[in-house]
Amino acid sequence: RTLLAGMLLSVFALAGCGQKQEAQQQASAPQAAAPAAGGEMKEYVVGTDASYAPFEFQNDKQEIVGFDMDVLTAVAAKGGFKVKFVNTPWEGMFATLPQGDRDILSSAITITDERKQSMDFSDPYFEARQLIAVGKGVADVKSFADLKAKKVAVQTGTTGDEVVQKLLGKTNPNIKRFESMPLALKELEGGGVDAAVGDNGVVANYVANNPQHGMVTVEDTKSFAPEYYGFAVNKGNKELLDKINAGIKAVKADGTYDQIFKKYFGTK
Ligand code: ARG
Repeated sequence: RTLLAGMLLSVFALAGCGQKQEAQQQASAPQAAAPAAGGEMKEYVVGTDASYAPFEFQNDKQEIVGFDMDVLTAVAAKGGFKVKFVNTPWEGMFATLPQGDRDILSSAITITDERKQSMDFSDPYFEARQLIAVGKGVADVKSFADLKAKKVAVQTGTTGDEVVQKLLGKTNPNIKRFESMPLALKELEGGGVDAAVGDNGVVANYVANNPQHGMVTVEDTKSFAPEYYGFAVNKGNKELLDKINAGIKAVKADGTYDQIFKKYFGTK
């Protein structure tokens, strides 16, 4: 067993080395922007649950793309740092910051008071709200309150999960929790639940792209408060947070943010 453990350790060590070399090569590649005075631009590892189109998803080439990637990449260019996106499951994602596995989280994360206890957030970069998707043939859902006696799918540990818990009760078996939003919406397609609740951009995008399933969306601006997305860093990482916030300011000021917004949402 000791031998095996030793072998595994060396394999990991090798793999780790390889990664570092690759990162260094990238950092010194000729197309890299001019390094900040005093040396190379730092590259930060960014965690994202890339199953959340149009904010973060994988394209045909398995590259992580989306609104959040465009915004953070532009922010990094202005803030004087580099980013490398790594697909990271939503569950457990927050813990990767104190563990040191990720430097930044860019995952359509709503800034909440509870989350602020354990991580630091950038200035907000997007406003969202919860949206209900209702299954084919479910005719009696006109508002959030109509979900009280329904089966509802959510992504575990999201703000969607939180609002549905408030209405149905935390331990209500009618709440079906899934590790990703697409899995929750697939359950709705299959008729396993009556509705799903999640961030408006993602729910609307999914329903529009899967018309064959006859799902419809129901807005309820009275029940759902606006939410604001922020990039998260480890608590106390002021150096990085300052760079991110400076970058956000700059991309908002020079029209870059508006361009990216238009690319994904068509309007200002
Ligand atoms: N905005 C919601 C929250 O922060 C959902 C975010 C889920 N993001 C994702 N990439 N799956 O709870």
